[in-house]
Amino acid sequence: KKPPTRKGSMVDVPADLMQQIHGLEAIFTVSGDKLKAIVKHFVTELNKGLTKKGGNIPMIPGWVMEHPTGKESGDYLAIDLGGTNLRVVLVKLGGDRTFDTTQSKYKLPNHIRTTKNKDELWAFIADSLDTFIKEEYPEGVPKGSKLPLGFTFSYPASQDKINEGILQRWTKGFDIPGIEGHDVVPMLQTELAKRNLPIDVVALINDTVGTLVASLYTDGETKMGCIFGTGVNGAYYDVVSDVEKLEERLADDIPKESLMAINCEYGSFDNEHLVLPRTKYDVMVDEQSPRPGQQSFEKMTSGYYLGELMRLALVDLHSQGFIFKNQDITQLQKPYVMDTSFPARIEEDPFENLEDTDDLFTNELKIKTTSVERKLIRKLAEVIGTRAARISVCGIAAVCQKRGYETGHIAADGSVYNLYPGFKEKAHAGLRDIYGWAEESDFSKYPISIVPAEDGSGAGAAIIAALTEKRLAKGLS
Ligand code: GLC
Repeated sequence: KKPPTRKGSMVDVPADLMQQIHGLEAIFTVSGDKLKAIVKHFVTELNKGLTKKGGNIPMIPGWVMEHPTGKESGDYLAIDLGGTNLRVVLVKLGGDRTFDTTQSKYKLPNHIRTTKNKDELWAFIADSLDTFIKEEYPEGVPKGSKLPLGFTFSYPASQDKINEGILQRWTKGFDIPGIEGHDVVPMLQTELAKRNLPIDVVALINDTVGTLVASLYTDGETKMGCIFGTGVNGAYYDVVSDVEKLEERLADDIPKESLMAINCEYGSFDNEHLVLPRTKYDVMVDEQSPRPGQQSFEKMTSGYYLGELMRLALVDLHSQGFIFKNQDITQLQKPYVMDTSFPARIEEDPFENLEDTDDLFTNELKIKTTSVERKLIRKLAEVIGTRAARISVCGIAAVCQKRGYETGHIAADGSVYNLYPGFKEKAHAGLRDIYGWAEESDFSKYPISIVPAEDGSGAGAAIIAALTEKRLAKGLS
């Protein structure tokens, strides 16, 4: 049985390493005042993003203009192109705020994130859909009918209507040429047509918008849909008259007080480096990424980068002679060899002497750690994880301040939110520091609380597809 906890004492840590630990703590710690300053600048940037001239944060209208009624019903397909898997879901909306889902996951071939041949990506998606449909409809889809599909494409994609998505730029380490600047919907439709698949791509959805809508389907208090995962982003509804860049893009008969879901794409907040407290490791992550200068906020907070930040700090401490003396660190020198499961497992290590961490380094990186080195490693994981949680809630506070929301639920999803140890507590502690709330042991008591979302890229995509069909049936675009 595992011993209850944690935190080894630091008494046996020699002075030079202790100094390094303090140094790491100092550069990765973000005070409540700093968080407030970040939020203040964030609000300005959200507003700027809504103007015609635009700013750093894309603030993309998602063309979902209604709240779900809960009465949406029927069979829908949904696909979600994530970082490691393609998820295909058959959603049966019950028409009474309930839904059933059946899903399969198809592992993305490793090289596909950066393949030079874009057709490979679309062919892979179409083949997976083909397999899925054959399994779910062994007798075939009823003649003459087409399955409506909601495509969750979680990258910044501009839309002038709901069934298009012009990729602005790849994020989260994807880098496939020939797609940026183009509409991805026809690319997928072409591959579907080649296989005679009876599917109609009716809506392209960002994961945050799907999360927002799916959660609103079941919880009327939902104010935002947020992802804390491989990427970091949020969506909310804004009033169309407050969205300057929608002027002249909406039909005349649309009332000014109508709502529009906005996919913020706030992972790109502070690309001009004005407020975020970047360390030298953040600068390295950025410079060595396929897209330097982009996604500054995301690079400090999302799961794609947390392990890499940790790796760069360890390599640096090794090169200065503080840790892993006389050891072969070839494995550790490989970029992105430590995914987020590394810091997560290290933070979760229940042993006083951090034996799980020892195993992790021995097995995965071929490095023998001493017990004091492991204390440093643990501290490093803690400060990187804590900083990510605290900074990432600045996006939530900024949207709530901008919209004047003082209470409500923030529906959250993503691997970091769901799996990273202590993330929820630390995120709420960050919000508490920003708002100055009194401490509660149960964070659902805070006026604004982060709650687990409904399935955005399954149910959310299906509900949006249903809302779109309804709108089209009314003759609206
Ligand atoms: C990245 C993408 C964004 C997505 C987020 C979470 O920031 O650009 O579209 O919502 O990751 O998956």
